[in-house]
Amino acid sequence: MKRLTFIYSLEELPLIAQSILQNIGLQKVIVLEGHLGAGKTTLIKEIIAQLGSTDLVSSPTYTIVNTYLYPKGEIYHIDAYRLKSDEEALDIGIDEILYSGEMVWIEWPQIIEHLLPEGTVYIKITLENNQRKLTLQIP
Ligand SMILES: Nc1ncnc2c1ncn2[C@@H]1O[C@H](COP(=O)(O)OP(=O)(O)O)[C@@H](O)[C@H]1O
Ligand SMILES: [Mg+2]
Repeated sequence: MKRLTFIYSLEELPLIAQSILQNIGLQKVIVLEGHLGAGKTTLIKEIIAQLGSTDLVSSPTYTIVNTYLYPKGEIYHIDAYRLKSDEEALDIGIDEILYSGEMVWIEWPQIIEHLLPEGTVYIKITLENNQRKLTLQIP
């Protein structure tokens, strides 16, 4: 298991995103934990741009799943906050998405935690003394 920690400002975001992409290697499912306003969507936006997508990245708060195109295929961006049960998760096709072989970035993964594939990467962002601290955990 690999565990890395970064403290970063918005100016450093591109470097942190680059480092995350280098470190996750071929892992496809990445979950992000952190309170509202921690910086989850902001990080995903930068990462998706770095992956070569020109699609507009927005928070899937209401849509639950956003899909973006990039040169290697599709990227799923999920906000599981409003999912209340397994049934709801399965209704939106969570299984197909998680095992699609495409990249999947998930905010608020708690409700679907037990459905996550082996090898899922964990990112946690916390605010400490007004600074963002990010922990990257790769199995
Ligand atoms: N590293 C950072 N340093 C300073 N501000 C940040 C950083 N990351 C994100 N922000 C700011 O925090 C706010 C909330 O970010 P957002 O990504 O929407 O949070 P979340 O998706 O976790 O709710 C945005 O205004 C964003 O610009
Ligand atoms: Mg968000």
